[in-house]
Amino acid sequence: TWTMVNIVEEQVEKIREQIGDKRAICGLSGGVDSAVAAALVQRAIGDQLTCVFVDLGLLRKGEAEQVERDFVAATGVSLHVVDAQKRFLDALAGVSDPEEKRKIIGREFIRVFEAAEAEIVGDAASHGAKVEFLVQGTLYPDVVESGGGAGTSNIKSHHNVGGLPEDLEFSLVEPLRTLFKDEVRLVGEQLGLPAEIVWRHPFPGPGLAIRIVGEVTQERLDILREADAIAREELTRAGLDRDIWQFPVVLLGDVRSVGVQGDGRTYGHPVVLRPVTSEDAMTADWARLPYDVLETISTRITNEVREINRVTLDITSKPPGTIEWE
Ligand code: XMP
Repeated sequence: TWTMVNIVEEQVEKIREQIGDKRAICGLSGGVDSAVAAALVQRAIGDQLTCVFVDLGLLRKGEAEQVERDFVAATGVSLHVVDAQKRFLDALAGVSDPEEKRKIIGREFIRVFEAAEAEIVGDAASHGAKVEFLVQGTLYPDVVESGGGAGTSNIKSHHNVGGLPEDLEFSLVEPLRTLFKDEVRLVGEQLGLPAEIVWRHPFPGPGLAIRIVGEVTQERLDILREADAIAREELTRAGLDRDIWQFPVVLLGDVRSVGVQGDGRTYGHPVVLRPVTSEDAMTADWARLPYDVLETISTRITNEVREINRVTLDITSKPPGTIEWE
């Protein structure tokens, strides 16, 4: 629409003014926000931007590939990929406490990201250029919920806003700071990003690690990834993607229940389906998904993911429940 064209042009102009002929880097998380922020900055300054994608191994099925292949193809962005999967699993070994997980992931992420930054900055310097700007996909609700630096209390330690190192030596470029999610999606469409990325549901920085109740292991990640992929596939097949704000699937890693499959008794893990509707994630309601869609998801997950023998539905609004379980 014309308003989105205006927002894009206005932001591109502002970014050009802010960055001038300097260089910028941008971390891609796999989500809509960082993708749209990066695409806007790419539109404004071209190869003066380098993107970094740290693969924590905590994204959903197929998402790392969508960043590394489809996003790059759509934008022509220059991308630096760091495979940090093993490092994160090692750092998370034995940890069950939600805030502890968040802190570890935030800390390790910053270390890995800073190492990548240092490499890019050094590389630019060897060509006589200086990287002075860091692009962030901060949205308006992130600013509000993390207190915006105004001394309000944090609900959760969102590492994309609150966890920045004190000695940050870049100036921030935050082209989405005044926008809500739906506006960001329209900007993304305007910029020609792939629909899978533009219409991707919001996804937390700590990723699947906070959708596994209990310790995060490679096996549990694999199980959750399969169950989550089925839930998403069926939601899409039912044409309901855009009616739902988010659809976390949560693996209760420390819970087992008895079941029966074929001739045998099973003792597997439950997953929780947590589809919610929301305007901005500050409040949310549990989504009334059609029973036949829920039935298909339940049947497919228990048939196709051997370790899962029970599928449950979370019918709690926010408040009192948060959207994520951790
Ligand atoms: P809750 O669970 O607090 O989540 O209702 C509100 C929204 O924030 C997302 N979320 C995060 N996003 N880093 C993020 O970038 C995080 O650490 C984080 N924790 C939660 C959540 O998915 C929901 O959209």
